[in-house]
Amino acid sequence: MNEPVISVRGLDVAFGARKVLRGLDLDVAPGEVLGFVGGSGQGKSVLTRAILGLNPKQAGKIRLFGEDIDRLTPRRHRALERRWGVMFQGGALFSSLTVRQNIQAPMREYLKLSQGLMDELASLKLKLVGLPPDAAEKYPSQLSGGMIKRAALARALALDPELLFLDEPTSGLDPIGAAEFDDLIATLQKTLGLTVFMVTHDLDSLYSICDTIAALADGKVIAHGPLDLMLASDHPWLRAYFHGKRARAIRRPDAVGIEASAASDASAPA
Ligand SMILES: Nc1ncnc2c1ncn2[C@@H]1O[C@H](COP(=O)(O)OP(=O)(O)OP(=O)(O)O)[C@@H](O)[C@H]1O
Ligand SMILES: [Mg+2]
Repeated sequence: MNEPVISVRGLDVAFGARKVLRGLDLDVAPGEVLGFVGGSGQGKSVLTRAILGLNPKQAGKIRLFGEDIDRLTPRRHRALERRWGVMFQGGALFSSLTVRQNIQAPMREYLKLSQGLMDELASLKLKLVGLPPDAAEKYPSQLSGGMIKRAALARALALDPELLFLDEPTSGLDPIGAAEFDDLIATLQKTLGLTVFMVTHDLDSLYSICDTIAALADGKVIAHGPLDLMLASDHPWLRAYFHGKRARAIRRPDAVGIEASAASDASAPA
């Protein structure tokens, strides 16, 4: 079996007395599109940040591309950092920079390229995420929510990463915009062969683009596997999440394990 791109073992993260992650284990395989779910405040963003080395951990091992991140020299760590891209929750674009400058920020930090080449690359990334060329000179405050997401994705793709972290990429988008964004991520994942770690609350995204789902509760990953495994789980949180009121709105004819009542609602004559 291929070595996982992300491997986390026994991860503890606490803020003072508040223990957020407690002995968390998780593996993400090359090319896997993982949807990471969990209640608000459970620690999904904290885990993302811990994997990225942005949140100190109290215990545990994190390996990225097979390398233990605690054993890297700063130089090696920097080389590794170039292999992933991150779209933080809410976009987190630099508000004082234009979209072009935002996309070029990682290039400036990690690569030595001429301004002309960086301009060409930024235009390419804009096209890749479906933004018009004139978006390049706009500031984040001049963009719609959907455009901010696309610009943030373009910045995450700036260094041609192999691994993409997305923290709630479709939150705040209308259903059509969210579906378009899902399609965009799916297309990019296939064409670029990306491994994707996507934190999301969006059931549509989970159903349409994720290969596997991992669920976080009580500081641990309580389940990790294909959707069918989640649908069949007896864990109270998973049952509430996948079979609750909101979940019923999902119509997935090939889904197994959806409650009979939900299925009959879906097929009931008008
Ligand atoms: N820097 C920090 N200092 C103190 N507490 C923090 C810090 N970062 C996160 N926390 C706490 O850790 C817990 C988990 O936060 P986190 O942002 O990971 O939640 P989440 O699962 O991403 O939630 P949401 O779905 O709302 O984004 C919360 O209780 C939060 O207050
Ligand atoms: Mg979060």
